[in-house]
Amino acid sequence: MIEEDTQILNTKERTEDQTLEIALRPHNFKEYIGQGNVKDNLKISIQAAKQREEPIEHVLLYGPPGLGKTTLAYIIAREMGANIKITSGPAIEKVGDLAAILTNLEDGDVLFIDEIHRLNRVIEEVLYPAMEDHVLDIVIGKGPSARTVRLDLQKFTIIGATTRYDLLSAPFRDRFGLIFRLDYYNPEEIATIIKNNAQKLNITIDDQGARIIAERSRLTPRIANRLLKRVRDYAQVKGNGQITESYALEALSLIDVDSHGLDYIDRRMLETIVDKFKGGPVGLSTLAAAIGEEIGTISEVYEPYLMRIGFLARTTRGRIVTEDGYQHIEREYPRDGQNKLV
Ligand SMILES: Nc1ncnc2c1ncn2[C@@H]1O[C@H](COP(=O)(O)OP(=O)(O)O)[C@@H](O)[C@H]1O
Ligand SMILES: [Mg+2]
Repeated sequence: MIEEDTQILNTKERTEDQTLEIALRPHNFKEYIGQGNVKDNLKISIQAAKQREEPIEHVLLYGPPGLGKTTLAYIIAREMGANIKITSGPAIEKVGDLAAILTNLEDGDVLFIDEIHRLNRVIEEVLYPAMEDHVLDIVIGKGPSARTVRLDLQKFTIIGATTRYDLLSAPFRDRFGLIFRLDYYNPEEIATIIKNNAQKLNITIDDQGARIIAERSRLTPRIANRLLKRVRDYAQVKGNGQITESYALEALSLIDVDSHGLDYIDRRMLETIVDKFKGGPVGLSTLAAAIGEEIGTISEVYEPYLMRIGFLARTTRGRIVTEDGYQHIEREYPRDGQNKLV
C-alpha cells in the first residue's frame, strides 16, 4: 500500500540506494533509534489525537539530509493508522496539481510533502486555507467572468520535510502545529543502527567494526547504511564476509573516507579556506566558486557537518576554519589573532 503510493506520486528515480533504504527503513518508534525528544513529543501528540479521534496536527520535520525525516513521516502515519500519500515541493507545479492531490485525500490521510521549501509561493498560499480550515478556494474561468469556488476537503494531516527551514516563510511555518528539528546522531546511536541493519542484511560484524563505520558515517544513518554495504562487499571479497575493525578500516580508506568521515570535498573546502583565504572569514558564494561546488550543497550538506564536529565556524563576516580544522588537514594554526571568532 505504502510502496504503491511512493511509486505513483514520487517522480524521483529509484536508485539502488533507495531500494536499500526501503529495506532498512525502521517501521516503528522502537526501531527508530535516537531523536528521543522528538519521539517523546510525537508519541504524546499521536496518542492525544487518537483519543480525540482526530487526525494529528500538521507536522514539519527539518534537518540535514539522511537523518530520518522521510522515515519518521512513515512511522507517524503508521502509528496513526493512516494512509500516506507522497509528493514533493517541486512536483507540485500548478494549483491544479495541488487541487487534484487534496481533493483525493480521505479522512485522516497523511500527505507527505518532501522538500517543502521548494513549493512555489502561489501554491503555498492555496495551501493555507486547506491546512487551516480544510477548504480549497479555486478560481474558475478568466477575466470578468472568473469566480472563486470553495471546495470542502476531508480532514487530513500534512507532514512537510525540509533541509532548509530558513527558506520557509513565517506564515507557512505558523501553520504547522508540530515542528521538529532532527539533529545529528551520536556515534553510539549510529553504531546501534549499523548493528541492527547488519542483522537485517545477514552480515556478521563485531563491535570494533561497527564503531569504525559509525565514526566515519558523518553521524548520519543514510551514510552509515551506505558504508556498511561497501564494507560488507570488501569483507566478502577479501575475507569470509565477517566485518572486523581491519576490514572496515581498509574498505573505508579505499573509498577515501577519513577518520572523521570527511571526503575529499570537505577536505578541499577546509584547505581552500586555509590556503587561499588565510583561514577565513570567507563568504559562502566566494567559497563555492573557489571549490567549484554548488552553494546549496555546501550549505545543506558539507557545512552543517563540519560545524557540528567543530572544524568550521560561522561568524558575521563569513566562514572560518577552527584550530581543530587546521589540525585535521595538517596545517599550522596562526597565532596572530586573525582567526578570532567575531
Ligand atoms: N532513527 C533512525 N534509526 C534507524 N535508521 C534510521 C533512522 N533514521 C534514518 N534511518 C535510516 O537512514 C535512511 C535515510 O533516512 P531518511 O528518512 O530517508 O532521511 P531523510 O528523509 O531525512 O533524508 C533510512 O532508510 C533508514 O534506514
Ligand atoms: Mg527524505
